Amino acid sequence: MTEHKQDTPPAQNAAKSGEAPKQAAAAAPQAPEPGKEKSAWDKLHYASCTSGGGARLLNPAGAADGEDDEMLHPQHIAIVGATSAMAEHCARLWAERAPQRITLIARSAERLARIAGDLRVRAPQAAIETLTLADFCDAAAIEEAVARTWALAPVDLALIAHGMLTEQEDCQKDLALAREMLMVNGVSPALFAEAFAGRMQQAGSGALAVIGSVAGDRGRKANYTYGAGKGLVERYMQGLQHRLAYAGSDVRATLIKPGPTDTPMTAKQKAAGARMASVEAVAAAIVRAVDAGKAQAYVPGRWALIMAVIRNLPSCIFNRLNV
Ligand SMILES: NC(=O)c1ccc[n+]([C@@H]2O[C@H](COP(=O)([O-])OP(=O)(O)OC[C@H]3O[C@@H](n4cnc5c(N)ncnc54)[C@H](OP(=O)(O)O)[C@@H]3O)[C@@H](O)[C@H]2O)c1
Repeated sequence: MTEHKQDTPPAQNAAKSGEAPKQAAAAAPQAPEPGKEKSAWDKLHYASCTSGGGARLLNPAGAADGEDDEMLHPQHIAIVGATSAMAEHCARLWAERAPQRITLIARSAERLARIAGDLRVRAPQAAIETLTLADFCDAAAIEEAVARTWALAPVDLALIAHGMLTEQEDCQKDLALAREMLMVNGVSPALFAEAFAGRMQQAGSGALAVIGSVAGDRGRKANYTYGAGKGLVERYMQGLQHRLAYAGSDVRATLIKPGPTDTPMTAKQKAAGARMASVEAVAAAIVRAVDAGKAQAYVPGRWALIMAVIRNLPSCIFNRLNV
């Protein structure tokens, strides 16, 4: 069980491991010829660790392969921003409940290796791939990363989880930082969503979940740059949902809106005494919302009521609040 840098393209590796992509892999772009690599490809680093080893897959109840065709073709779950605490806990839940192929995408190879190793221990029959991407705001690199992921096997479920939070006042003083916040929290998740949704719609199935935030519901002085990025994601997902519904597609697109949650992102707020939901509870709620195919889910659910009040407060009252 060794994790290795993969020099050959993923599609070739899938072929080597004897796994037959379910469908549509042929539609994925071919790997560049040696010497003709595109710049986006150069920015991607790919590693794989397939912990199952054998072809015999078991479901949680222990049924052998052949009893259910689905078991021969375990779900392929792609997680973007896989080093996020929320994403990591979702990955654990998905990996533990059935044999899965999971592709983890993030910036740091070291952090990805740690998470992949942990999943391997928790779910020895899972096939874990990792893919690092240096710039999450490079449209060509995003397209390439999703194409590489899809080439392994069509993706049944994609979770897009990355995001960044800085002090609002710093964004006001530093436009480059403000731009990065808007790009990482808004444009980048939208582009990943587009890249997965197009392939899923073409394949005729799939579930896409993007983590937004309650902060996207109404701009407020404490975090409006972050909130604006999340608001962009909300509008994008709304349009995507309309497009899929109008086309009669079975693809489901879910916007997750967490409230304050105990993760590294909110370490400062926690230290200052803010109340947070546990990351375990939030991850479980995300998994439930995706299972149910909800269009939108506040997690924990009480935030639906809190945000309904905040969204509907008249400006003459809201603008006097220190929030
Ligand atoms: N925690 C909360 O209270 C809360 C509330 C509402 C919404 N959310 C949202 O929930 C999602 C998951 O966050 P989390 O709470 O699990 O936080 P987290 O553990 O701090 O994870 C943040 C993730 O975003 C990635 N990231 C940060 N800056 C990036 C950049 N410039 N480019 C690419 N990736 C970047 C991190 O990658 P590295 O490992 O490379 O840094 C990491 O994967 C985020 O979208 C966040 O906005 C969080």
